[in-house]
Amino acid sequence: MTEPILQVEDAVCAFGGLRAVDNCSFEVEAGTITGLIGPNGAGKSTMFNLITDMVPLQSGRIFFDGRRLDGIPPHSVARRGVARTFQIPGELGRMTVLENLALVPEGQLGEAMFTSLFAPGIVRRQEERIRDQAREVLGLLQLTHLEEELAANLSTGQKKLLEIGRALMASPKLVLLDEPAAGVNPTLMRNIAQTIKGLRDERGITWVIVEHDVPLIMEMSDRVIVMAEGKVIANGTPEEVRSDRRVLDAYLGGVAA
Ligand SMILES: Nc1ncnc2c1ncn2[C@@H]1O[C@H](COP(=O)(O)OP(=O)(O)OP(=O)(O)O)[C@@H](O)[C@H]1O
Ligand SMILES: [Mg+2]
Repeated sequence: MTEPILQVEDAVCAFGGLRAVDNCSFEVEAGTITGLIGPNGAGKSTMFNLITDMVPLQSGRIFFDGRRLDGIPPHSVARRGVARTFQIPGELGRMTVLENLALVPEGQLGEAMFTSLFAPGIVRRQEERIRDQAREVLGLLQLTHLEEELAANLSTGQKKLLEIGRALMASPKLVLLDEPAAGVNPTLMRNIAQTIKGLRDERGITWVIVEHDVPLIMEMSDRVIVMAEGKVIANGTPEEVRSDRRVLDAYLGGVAA
């Protein structure tokens, strides 16, 4: 493996007596797509919460770009270039799709009263740049026709795509997607998967994707990590993971239960 962009070392997170993440270690190589799969309750979303410092690590360490990522505030994680989406979308329903994207970039000069009063031209140009970026993101996600729609009126699938869009607006190095395909039309999701691969190849964006659509994940990922009951039970290429007995057992056990 070349330089890992993300390293998780012996991560532990317990809720009461339950070890939601139980001594997990893995690395993610820059410019790759990693699928993170496993049965319900395996600890996948909690792993994202740990990486983004939304819940604290009880023990272990997380490195991003060679520097410690754990124990810093979530907005500092974002500033370092880590963006995420949530299993339940968090759009602002009374704003349009375009406005939801435009409010993401940090340090908008328009927010500083002094600048708006004394340098309105600078503010306007910056706002135009952000809107152009938002329109580009909408194009990538095939949402251009919904630019002026109120976010509340989107379908579940479209809200999922808007979440990805908000992540991209932060110009991230690493994007964590939590169940992007849930509720998204399968044909559209396959197109989005191609877009994600394109952003990996052309912009070097690294992706970690939690998803229950296993065929989709196997098709789009360079590496697949499998969690069950808080532990990493397999980590390899899609081919290696597909034929791993422990993975089959974890999924079949989950179905049987
Ligand atoms: N904030 C919390 N407080 C208490 N328990 C929690 C909390 N967050 C997660 N858990 C528990 O930790 C375990 C792992 O949950 P997590 O949401 O990480 O699973 P998951 O792999 O994302 O599952 P799913 O595929 O259903 O989304 C579950 O048993 C869950 O109930
Ligand atoms: Mg989850």
